[in-house]
Amino acid sequence: MVQVKSPYWQKVVDDAQKHPAVPGLEKIPFFTMAPMEAVTDSVFRRVVAKAGGPDVYFTEFTNARSITHPKAKFTVQGRLYVEESEKMPVAQLWGNRPEDFEAASYDLKERGYEALDLNMGCPAATVVKNGGGSDLIRHFEDAKNVIAAAKAAGLAVSVKTRLGFNQIDTFEEWIPFLLKQDIPLLTVHMRTRKEMSKVPAHYEYIDRLIALRDEIAPNTLLQINGDIKDREDGLELVRQHPGIDGIMIGRGIFENPFAFEITPREHTLDETLTLLRMQLDLYDQFTAKFGPMHFQKLKRFFKIYVRHFSYASDLRVALMDTTNTTQVRELLDQFDKQWAAQKASDTIAITTK
Ligand SMILES: Cc1cc2nc3c(=O)[nH]c(=O)nc-3n(C[C@H](O)[C@H](O)[C@H](O)COP(=O)(O)O)c2cc1C
Repeated sequence: MVQVKSPYWQKVVDDAQKHPAVPGLEKIPFFTMAPMEAVTDSVFRRVVAKAGGPDVYFTEFTNARSITHPKAKFTVQGRLYVEESEKMPVAQLWGNRPEDFEAASYDLKERGYEALDLNMGCPAATVVKNGGGSDLIRHFEDAKNVIAAAKAAGLAVSVKTRLGFNQIDTFEEWIPFLLKQDIPLLTVHMRTRKEMSKVPAHYEYIDRLIALRDEIAPNTLLQINGDIKDREDGLELVRQHPGIDGIMIGRGIFENPFAFEITPREHTLDETLTLLRMQLDLYDQFTAKFGPMHFQKLKRFFKIYVRHFSYASDLRVALMDTTNTTQVRELLDQFDKQWAAQKASDTIAITTK
């Protein structure tokens, strides 16, 4: 078992071992939900928790500079907000100026965060143009300085990155470089920046990453990300590559809100619509606190909850025409009346394979 230098991540590893034993695995990996912009805010994290959430959550990314910048710091409050009942997530930041990360680390600590993840993989043009995200893969020294600065407040500082910027073989230099920065956790999305999410994740390099980690930084946890659908899928990947410590799941949650469930079972449409109702309520509370959000952003979630039920296709279509949460609730009430009997009895194995 890896001895982690960070108490935060050591606890994550230890707590994962409390889950039921997994056939074929000596060590149970921890599971995390990937940071996703406009998705993994406090509202959605609480919905996922209700559905049987992961061991660790990550916030959507926040510009390191904006956290303490006098003009921007108010606009990022919602991104960093954590509700009392929540497990404290890992805060993810992007940027490239060490002084921003240093200031942000103190601010995050004051907010109660214990861990801070640095985004070194985002392919978005606006981020790359500003020297952040995957651009750091082309600027090793900036990456090093940012990591060092982020450690200022004593938070557990981890890195999430890709295999390379344009070329896959960049990882042979980039990953060893990161492993030498004394970080407790390295997460690798198994693609290059150029590949975006257009090609299958390159699992063929996992064993090489494990070998590099074992050789250079045996105390650094290695987390694999990319195309992993759910817990079962992740466990299978770890059976094939037992050196993996953690599994990060992003888009799998769009196909199955129960992706992190420890013991997968069938779910009724009633259950998934209950999650949708919960999201509507939390969304209303959130917008009352932090101001209106684009309703379009909420709409992208609707299909998560009704996608597996063919007789609900009319509902799915109608939901897309709504413009506020009241209309959504009205539609759900109508649907409840129309399909009461069927909805309660129909179960479906929500599987993403
Ligand atoms: C809508 C969306 C938003 C994302 N936002 C972030 C982000 O804020 N920070 C980050 O490191 N990665 C972000 N990503 C990338 C994911 O964290 C993850 O690396 C990627 O989706 C691959 O994993 P998956 O195949 O499990 O989805 C985002 C991905 C999506 C689909």
